[in-house]
Amino acid sequence: MKQDIETVLITEAQLKTRIAELAAELKRDFAPGSNPLFIGVLKGSFMFIADLMRAYDYTCAVDFMAVSSYGAKSQTTGQVRILKDIGQDIEGRDIIIVEDILDSGVTLNYLMQMMQARRPKSVRICTLLDKPSRRRIEVKADYIGFTIDDAFVVGYGLDFDEKYRNMSEIGILKPSVYAEN
Ligand code: PRP
Repeated sequence: MKQDIETVLITEAQLKTRIAELAAELKRDFAPGSNPLFIGVLKGSFMFIADLMRAYDYTCAVDFMAVSSYGAKSQTTGQVRILKDIGQDIEGRDIIIVEDILDSGVTLNYLMQMMQARRPKSVRICTLLDKPSRRRIEVKADYIGFTIDDAFVVGYGLDFDEKYRNMSEIGILKPSVYAEN
């Protein structure tokens, strides 16, 4: 895997530090007793949500959604398909949607509208990475780990062709790797 990485953008230590800071913000906003429901958007968020919830050490719950945009990822058509929905009623709950990356905004815009329609107490967005230069729909995350430039990033849950998700850091993929495909 390492030979396919051009540069490490965010180290394991930097991730750990920043996630602890994000969890501290969440602990400030969701005090003991609020019992928020973390909703991870699969697959990319699986590592982040695991570490985030360990650092948010108040009572909380977790669920997952799986979504898919039509077409190639770099040319999302703006349509989102729900492959797996959460398995519970969220009316009156504090919801934290957890994403690995906010890119065009298509996915989160759709999910926000979908969640709001279910009458939760609140919905917040927590994304590890934000690429504001790629935005096509206005979406603002409430908690952002790192704001990054438009590079092809992989690792710590993020993939290219389903690979690299198990890297402990976030790296920039060598263009030669995705040019081959
Ligand atoms: C990524 C990411 C978000 C979405 C963000 O998922 O996890 O869900 O793209 O992009 P957007 O802001 O342009 O909508 P992806 O479709 O790559 O699936 P994965 O999480 O399974 O890798």
